[in-house]
Amino acid sequence: MSPPAAAALPPIPLPIGELLPPPDLFWHRSDLHGQAHVARVMVHAFRLVAATGPSHLAPALWAAVYLHDIARRGDGVCTRHGTDAWDRLSSLPDVRALFGRGGVTESDYPAIRTAVVHHCQGDVALDHPHWRLSALLKDADALDRVRIDDLDHAFLRFPETLALIRFAGRLFVETRGRIPEGPDHFARLWPQALRIANEDVTERSRQASQPRGRIPPATRGEA
Ligand SMILES: [Fe+2]
Ligand SMILES: [Fe+2]
Repeated sequence: MSPPAAAALPPIPLPIGELLPPPDLFWHRSDLHGQAHVARVMVHAFRLVAATGPSHLAPALWAAVYLHDIARRGDGVCTRHGTDAWDRLSSLPDVRALFGRGGVTESDYPAIRTAVVHHCQGDVALDHPHWRLSALLKDADALDRVRIDDLDHAFLRFPETLALIRFAGRLFVETRGRIPEGPDHFARLWPQALRIANEDVTERSRQASQPRGRIPPATRGEA
């Protein structure tokens, strides 16, 4: 499958500086699960939602990414920080208001809850009404497992995600440690994401256009 084309930001009517949770919103501020990780997951989520079609899910997916790791207590395996993150939302009226300004509607919250709670638990059933949002968050989060060299292709849920693995690796390697945490983190990361995405598309097109099984002219006759 070809990688999805790099796209503009989804239609979330907010300044780019408000798309990420601020560093002090995280109970556990870490390099592994802090703002930089959530920023990369946000990039993957925006690209996945563009590639898989349901653009009306963009605000809900954005909110789910925003919340998903703010209630971690550490970096280890944990199946409850999604539940804790969802529970925190009731004590964060400013975040709830932000979601509203970003296009999240009351009818989105059941799906956001399912996605956030289950992102660190097993998959919901394929026929669950919120499967798609939950699967989008899980795949976007999984793409950033490249940072710990532990991305298992077999666990991905959308074919479009497979086409983003190389991009995810480059996004991590080429930006880690180079963009400080803070309100302009995403505004500085997003142009890098677009550059890498466009280079990835160009490279794949070049590879696809090369004839297969033929000896390149420059090497004919060489031993
Ligand atoms: Fe998590
Ligand atoms: Fe995460």
